[in-house]
Amino acid sequence: MEWTFCSIDDDSVNRENFDCGVPELNEYLKKYARQNDRRGIAKTFVAISEDGNRDVYGYYSVGMAEIKRESLPANYQRGIPRYPVPAMRLSRLAVALAMQGRGLGEELLMECFRKAVRLSSEVAIFAVIVDAKNQPVKEFYLKYGFIPLKDNELSVFIPISTITEFLENASS
Ligand SMILES: CC(C)(COP(=O)(O)OP(=O)(O)OC[C@H]1O[C@@H](n2cnc3c(N)ncnc32)[C@H](O)[C@@H]1OP(=O)(O)O)[C@@H](O)C(=O)NCCC(=O)NCCS
Repeated sequence: MEWTFCSIDDDSVNRENFDCGVPELNEYLKKYARQNDRRGIAKTFVAISEDGNRDVYGYYSVGMAEIKRESLPANYQRGIPRYPVPAMRLSRLAVALAMQGRGLGEELLMECFRKAVRLSSEVAIFAVIVDAKNQPVKEFYLKYGFIPLKDNELSVFIPISTITEFLENASS
């Protein structure tokens, strides 16, 4: 399927049927995503099909965060200041049950990566970070080059330099 990505603030999208199997992620999309988007708390982007159906099949939410130097693995601490460095947090990522395992999660992640790289030319972003929901979901992120942070066993990061390289290789 071909996907279009748009803001949750687009009134024409239908989020009422969305079910990813995780109640709090369903509820977030239906009840809180739009208001948080408008208030600058977290921006949410949804995937809708290019066939004209306006149902949401997947979404991700992003905001800003920071990473403490001591949270980084030792080999990443070199050259990093003692104060926290800026990061973009992928706070939510979910795909409808009917679409899981068909590549939409990866497409949403790539969309998030492209956004991070674009923003990083205007606002400093050292890395993208995620607090994975559980170990299997952490494995999903590790597959794309995320690296475990030291302070929380489910938190992972990926340097913006790695993302840039990854996207360049993917497009060549
Ligand atoms: C996690 C999630 C977003 C992945 O989306 P998806 O569309 O099913 O994933 P994709 O089809 O794009 O899979 C991409 C790759 O990740 C792997 N993968 C998918 N889900 C995985 C999981 N839970 N654990 C480990 N690997 C996973 C796939 O096997 C695939 O690898 P392959 O290409 O080598 O086969 C989706 O399963 C989901 O919404 N789960 C419920 C909500 C949730 O837990 N969100 C995470 C919040 S931190």
